[in-house]
Amino acid sequence: MQVWKDYQVTHKDRFLEELLELLRIPSVSADSSFSKDVKACAEAVKLRLQEAGAEKVEVCPTAGHPIVYGEKIIDPALPTVLVYGHYDVQPADPLELWNSGPFEPVIKDEKIYARGSADDKGQFYMHVKAFETMAKTNTLPCNIKFMIEGEEEVGSANLGIFIKENKERLKADVVLISDTAMLSLENPSLDTGLRGLSYMEVEVTGPNRDLHSGVYGGAVANPATILCKMIASMHDENNHITIPGFYDKVQELSKEERDALNAAPFDEAAYKADLGVDELWGEKGYTTIERTGIRPTLEVNGIWGGYTGEGSKTVLPSKASAKISMRLVPNQDWKEISALFQAHFEKIAPKSVKVKVTTHHGGSPYVTPTDHVAFKAASEAIKATFGKGPIPMRGGGSIPIVALFEKELGLKTILMGFGLDSDNLHSPNEKYGLANFYKGIETIPYFHKYFAEMSK
Ligand code: BES
Ligand code: MN
Ligand code: MN
Repeated sequence: MQVWKDYQVTHKDRFLEELLELLRIPSVSADSSFSKDVKACAEAVKLRLQEAGAEKVEVCPTAGHPIVYGEKIIDPALPTVLVYGHYDVQPADPLELWNSGPFEPVIKDEKIYARGSADDKGQFYMHVKAFETMAKTNTLPCNIKFMIEGEEEVGSANLGIFIKENKERLKADVVLISDTAMLSLENPSLDTGLRGLSYMEVEVTGPNRDLHSGVYGGAVANPATILCKMIASMHDENNHITIPGFYDKVQELSKEERDALNAAPFDEAAYKADLGVDELWGEKGYTTIERTGIRPTLEVNGIWGGYTGEGSKTVLPSKASAKISMRLVPNQDWKEISALFQAHFEKIAPKSVKVKVTTHHGGSPYVTPTDHVAFKAASEAIKATFGKGPIPMRGGGSIPIVALFEKELGLKTILMGFGLDSDNLHSPNEKYGLANFYKGIETIPYFHKYFAEMSK
């Protein structure tokens, strides 16, 4: 639509300036020393939604970080799209590995470098600007509701409560989210699923205090060694996970479904080169696309214990710990998997140590039905602006609230992400392409247009 194009060309630079301003606010949800910044970011989002033309915009307090809500209802008879995103970001550390400040966005090689640029400020902000485009040109084809939260990166526990308490206000026909990746701008794709998550922490305790490793070493079990052995035993020689019952409910895909997934372009040599590894690793019998999309996994996110400071210290530590997460696929239940993990970890612990297992948080996997009218609308929108339709993919990451949208609100979710896997999410030098940002703003209005038309 020419009016959209004209509006977006005119306001292009301002759109970017506003995003950079949001990126300067260190809204790190995991670290309470940033609570004020998280709040300030919520206020900034509120202001931008109001300016864009949203009504009833509100910063809704929760037991944790606030949720920003806003809406524009043009006609109750028209369909309503609920746009979800998150303004919180992951911690920026290790800071020394950033080439520029994580909260001092810079543009280099046509990419915006900053924490949150792709995950998710740069992506949810495309929706605010797409909405502005439609609102200011009087071309909104349907009703829109925005719900932008501040706790996605820490598990969305308070958003879960919020949606249960606000079912009427959140009434909609579909949820639209840009918080995933596509293959590339040349090969657009749409994620048709997200993995679930079960996040655990384990602590292994040996002797009641740190010991001189010469005086006691050899006579007392070293909890760091034991922990490593226990963790290593959780994958077998085929890289299957050894927790009894772990795969019992895993949905196996048909050969046709697997073939369809594997038809997506994938350049293994480029993938390895980008990551600096000589060989890939994973569950035997599955391709890389399958290993990161339709198969469950177990990862150590962090492991510590004993002396890790400068120089050397001879010590047999009293304790060793690890944070372990499992990505889950349909129909695994995260609470069940957490319980299986705990029982197994306690069972394989030798008598020489004591173990403590705690659950941090979790979330269910999700699959978008590709025959849903909104999935068709998203495909058509991509076709309109990319010149070709999207390749359906399964996203490896998790957005735990998505399964609750279905359970609590009865809503399906469309994952229309414009990022790239190589955007360094959760890692130093996170980036988001300017072209991705602008392409998203261009594409999103078409989603609303086609969704409204196809829903008639
Ligand atoms: N945006 C990501 C999820 C994502 C990334 C999905 C890439 C698909 C592709 C989201 O912000 C995220 O990082 N989620 C966390 C889960 C959360 C409970 C900490 C994740 O996946 O680790
Ligand atoms: Mn995200
Ligand atoms: Mn994230």
